[in-house]
Amino acid sequence: MSSFKKSAFITKSYNVSSISQEYTLKAIGSSNIALIKYWGKKNGQIPANPSISYTLTKSHTCSELICSPRKNKTDDFSIKVVFFGKERSDFLPKIREFFKRILPYCLYLLDFDFVLNTHNNFPHSSGIASSASSMSALALCICELESHMGITLSEDFLLKKASFLSRLGSGSACRSIYSGLVVWGAHEKIIGSDDHYAIPYPYEVHKVFHRFNNFILLVDISPKKVSSTLGHKLMNKHPYAKERFLAAYKNIQELIFILKNGDVEAFGTLIEHEALSLHAMMMTAYPSFVLMKPDTLKIIEKVWNLRREQKISLYFTLDAGANVHLLYPEKDIEKIQDFINQELPMYTLENKFIRDSCRYD
Ligand code: DP6
Repeated sequence: MSSFKKSAFITKSYNVSSISQEYTLKAIGSSNIALIKYWGKKNGQIPANPSISYTLTKSHTCSELICSPRKNKTDDFSIKVVFFGKERSDFLPKIREFFKRILPYCLYLLDFDFVLNTHNNFPHSSGIASSASSMSALALCICELESHMGITLSEDFLLKKASFLSRLGSGSACRSIYSGLVVWGAHEKIIGSDDHYAIPYPYEVHKVFHRFNNFILLVDISPKKVSSTLGHKLMNKHPYAKERFLAAYKNIQELIFILKNGDVEAFGTLIEHEALSLHAMMMTAYPSFVLMKPDTLKIIEKVWNLRREQKISLYFTLDAGANVHLLYPEKDIEKIQDFINQELPMYTLENKFIRDSCRYD
């Protein structure tokens, strides 16, 4: 575990006047898929249990933050959000809330007029972590802004601060700052792990997990009926919350062992169990809700049948939504692609899917 203090992230001396005219910062924020899920949090965006994810190599948000020195400074933020070229005032409350949360660490946010120009290469609000990629991209732009105000941040610290800030926008976003396997949340067996920011997974990873395929089947891309934020909140009074947090903690320990010894079958069994535990928490919350759709279950059944009949290493995981993430190693890739192409398109939305991957270098 880490001993980093929150106060280390407060930018104390900076020179706003070094940005005398409009300046554009650009960043890309990747999406990520959790293997051990974060579901439930304490005040201040502190996770109720540690989580581990794979960062995706393709699905991402591209953001441009245009900063102009503000002529009439007030005690409110000046932000405009443009998504796919269209001004979106409906995105503002989330961004303003993010700015409010990070203001104690980035006091200069009141010194600029901001325009945030952003687009994803995957559908927004589809259960694919768009808040993770968008918040991490924005946090990276903000950290980059610091380096133009006379603040020298080491590359390591810049990423740590970007992760720290991203977490305040969306918990899972703090993992998107790093590529490969990423840990967020303090765990006694993971050196350097912390509740306030994510770290790259620090231990040995068997080569089978260095290249993993991720095929995302889009079952439903309509906005979710219950947001992740509300889902997390329902964990506060959830009858099985204590057991779930403990199970996630233990599952991290098991995953450390699996990642080292390269046991793909144990990996698959564990991630499927995690995914279904996440959805079980939703179904047993009060009030209960279900984010899976009939086609989500049909895909799961198909995957299980394939494994039973052909002993092929194909596994699934789910986010807080109906879409299915298939995860599989390089071995059997051709048979798996054939299976996906022949057996699964009818369960996806207009044959929609995203071919992504996870890399650990
Ligand atoms: C199911 O990070 O979207 O994807 O912190 O409220 O923004 P907020 O929640 P969010 O929750 C993600 C939950 C999850 C699991 C995970 O990614 O670990």
